[in-house]
Amino acid sequence: MHSREQARNWARMLDEHAKRLADTTIPQLLAAEPERATTQSLRHGPILVSFARQRIDAAAWRMLFDMADELGVPAALGDLVDGVEVNVTEHRPALHTALRSDLGRAPVAQRAREQALAAQRQAETLARRLADEGVTDVINIGIGGSDLGPRFVVDALREQADSPFRVHFLSNVDGHAATRLLRELDPARSAAVLVSKSFTTQETLLNGALVRDWLGGPQSLVAVSAEVARAEAFGIAAERVLPMWDWVGGRYSVWSAAGFAARLALGEDGWRQLLAGAADIDAHVAKAPVAGNLAVRHALVAVWNRVALRLPTHAVLPYDERLAKLPAYLQQLFMESLGKSVRSDGEAVAMPTGAVLWGAPGTDSQHSFFQALHQGVEVTPTELIGVIRPHHPHSASHQALLANLLAQSQAFANGAEHGDPHRRHPGNRPGTVFLLDALTPQALGGLLALYEHSVYVQSVIWGINAFDQWGVELGKRIAGDLLPALRGDSAGPDDPVTRALLAEVLRGG
Ligand code: F6P
Repeated sequence: MHSREQARNWARMLDEHAKRLADTTIPQLLAAEPERATTQSLRHGPILVSFARQRIDAAAWRMLFDMADELGVPAALGDLVDGVEVNVTEHRPALHTALRSDLGRAPVAQRAREQALAAQRQAETLARRLADEGVTDVINIGIGGSDLGPRFVVDALREQADSPFRVHFLSNVDGHAATRLLRELDPARSAAVLVSKSFTTQETLLNGALVRDWLGGPQSLVAVSAEVARAEAFGIAAERVLPMWDWVGGRYSVWSAAGFAARLALGEDGWRQLLAGAADIDAHVAKAPVAGNLAVRHALVAVWNRVALRLPTHAVLPYDERLAKLPAYLQQLFMESLGKSVRSDGEAVAMPTGAVLWGAPGTDSQHSFFQALHQGVEVTPTELIGVIRPHHPHSASHQALLANLLAQSQAFANGAEHGDPHRRHPGNRPGTVFLLDALTPQALGGLLALYEHSVYVQSVIWGINAFDQWGVELGKRIAGDLLPALRGDSAGPDDPVTRALLAEVLRGG
């Protein structure tokens, strides 16, 4: 990987370009380079992305492309698909691409591909078996990457589902969630899939035990895990355990058996199209030079906004109800991957890293937080996502939805003068627009793969490891230590604030 000094030099370069462009607005950039409306739009398959309203001129783009080349992005993309140990703190490759593509030539990548294909066949057989057992409702029990991916895909593609199963999700270790869900279901016609790579996650094991009791035993349980022995100890027969491997990170695992619930909901054809869409983007990202590479471009915009413009957050605003859960999915993907301040070599990062990602669907969000996006002191770069052909017959609604998307993108960038300062829109707020031809499984697979690759490219530029998540460990450990005190079995913690709050809890409210 590159040295900290190299990264600092590029950070300086980014800063210089940002200073050069400080007084140039987005409308001025478009006036100077009118062709950017089309030249800054890239399409691959069903996905078009317009970067025309980013505060980046031609010279800054050239600098960003040079930076990507010099900091080793093309080689790093090759390393990823070839199974090099890119997860340096856990000494593992990150071979999620092998779950859907056959790009890696190294033996480790080929072996992962074989394992992935065998697991696909196993999952297909198990899906048939659940249908034969008369199961109509399947509960996915998992959290983080073992929940957000399948939950999002099932919700997004509900209209196109072709399957005998209704799929439900249980993630939070909150008895209200379990109670609400289980009262809607019949244990005689239900099954549960416990998805946990580690099979040690507290939330999943507690919810799993609760549902196992409700089902009357473990016979209707299925597991997805890299730890077969732990799943068996839970009571799940080995032939009902679908594999995971240490070479797939939880937040990159929707394509594996961790996406089994999505596979059940979509049916085999839909599931295969989802993987094919991701494979198509993998092939594009692996081969396209940086300037024409959708994922690299997307990542460079993120780095520019974070490092050159020092913008700390980033809003994802899907103008499609079916993508309502996309911000939650991307929060884990981006923030668990890029929320790091130490480089892979153990040094402090040389520039600010991953932005805070948040968002909600339009048009609802227009009527809640858009005021702050238009006139607030902080500038938030936006990512607006629209779908050209809807899956419903209500054309007037769809025209209005897309008119709002186009209008907001224009308003953020161009603003509007007004004699009354309260009514002035400053504009110059950068944004990217995604247009998907239609929300097919293929397009959705491509969109998610594109985001995964963008995350990886950002991590390469920042010199951080996108595949570990040590930051989540401390809170888990403290919660484990506190459990005996909550049960009244130990004196409680030394921390005076926790002790005082715990005393209130134990008093019973
Ligand atoms: O939040 C930490 C984390 O390890 C995530 O990275 C992961 O997706 C989630 O917990 C669930 O882990 P598991 O699949 O092992 O239960």
